[in-house]
Amino acid sequence: MNSQQLARRMQRVRPSPTATISDQVRALEAAGNAVINLGEGELDFATPANISYAGIAAIVQQQTKYTAVSGTSELKQAISNKFARDNQLSFNPQEIIAGSGAKQLIFNALLATLDAGQEVIIPAPYWVSYPDMVTLAEGEPVIVPCHEQQGWKLQPQDLAAALTPATRWVILNSPGNPTGAVYSAQELQALANVLSGHPQVLIMADDIYEPLRYDNTPFSTFAQVAPQLADRTLTINGVSKSHAMTGWRLGYAAGPAWLINAMQILQSQSTSNPSSISQAAAVVALQQPATFLAEWIAVLDRRRQQVLETIAASNGLSASAPQGAFYIFANCTALIGRSTPQGEVLANDKAVASWLLQDAQVALLHGSAFGTPGYLRIAYAVEDGLLREACQRLKASLSKLS
Ligand SMILES: Cc1ncc(COP(=O)(O)O)c(C=O)c1O
Repeated sequence: MNSQQLARRMQRVRPSPTATISDQVRALEAAGNAVINLGEGELDFATPANISYAGIAAIVQQQTKYTAVSGTSELKQAISNKFARDNQLSFNPQEIIAGSGAKQLIFNALLATLDAGQEVIIPAPYWVSYPDMVTLAEGEPVIVPCHEQQGWKLQPQDLAAALTPATRWVILNSPGNPTGAVYSAQELQALANVLSGHPQVLIMADDIYEPLRYDNTPFSTFAQVAPQLADRTLTINGVSKSHAMTGWRLGYAAGPAWLINAMQILQSQSTSNPSSISQAAAVVALQQPATFLAEWIAVLDRRRQQVLETIAASNGLSASAPQGAFYIFANCTALIGRSTPQGEVLANDKAVASWLLQDAQVALLHGSAFGTPGYLRIAYAVEDGLLREACQRLKASLSKLS
């Protein structure tokens, strides 16, 4: 077997840069280096104990068989209750599907709806997987740049300019990865006004970071703000980030029954149901009050402030405070063109990230991976002591550049 035997479709997809950086970190660690990884998109917190025990109970009670492809009725009820309680949205079981992570549901939705050449509007900076999933499904990503001065949010006039008769989807992610931007109800309404004149366009609202917000920033989701567009809105969510359950692989989506049904057909011929054990744990996660959340937010907020202070005191980085998620998207353009003590000129954001990995042994992701060169994404959901150490190392390394 060699690479010539791979399908042409493999030319349309790149490995996820987040996975690539983790591989680099593991290789450096295997060589004896103490790398601090600020590149990972997951909370360092433990899954709350009663949720984990629900998983153990499911194993012991032999809930270890296939379930309905789109999820058990208990889980769908818990998902429906969650949408009613948190978002004032009402969905029946035919309008809900659970999958092996939000990622699988986004992929299935795109695969189920895109014909060759159909366009998907993706505001940049974007989550790394959206464009590759679109191209894998033979669609065309249409990247619309957003700007730091506008809070990294898609502007209605830019959306209007990007829409064409070939547009099939617009993807909105709030709170956003990598910027932490949170759209207000008014901002979503302004986008809905533009989209109401384009009935062929579906709207994907990726709300995976919903509860992780700071400074009492309110949350609205598109389907709630624009009920008149609910019949073409797919809301994506999951327990990965809300309950520190990335490894359990449990996401969910709600939207029109025709779309959910198509996603379920694809899932039935690929992975079938998400893990029965994870489903049982997710029922508890979604039904219990999130009593742990206030403490999590307080811890994350403290870390957010710490990284912002490091950036403010550093030579060459700047950033505005993110409203949600656990990332800071820092401008590093002032570092580009500077020289390392070894005489290497840092040509771009990737060179900056790669030098920081070597010199500070701190792993970060470069902004170009998110469609926005000149930035670095700093994921700060790591243990306090490690984060403190990482901040000191970053400051020390940056001060060596001339
Ligand atoms: C914006 C966004 N959407 C979706 C996902 C995927 O989440 P899951 O772990 O549920 O597949 C991620 C994970 O990093 C993300 O950042």
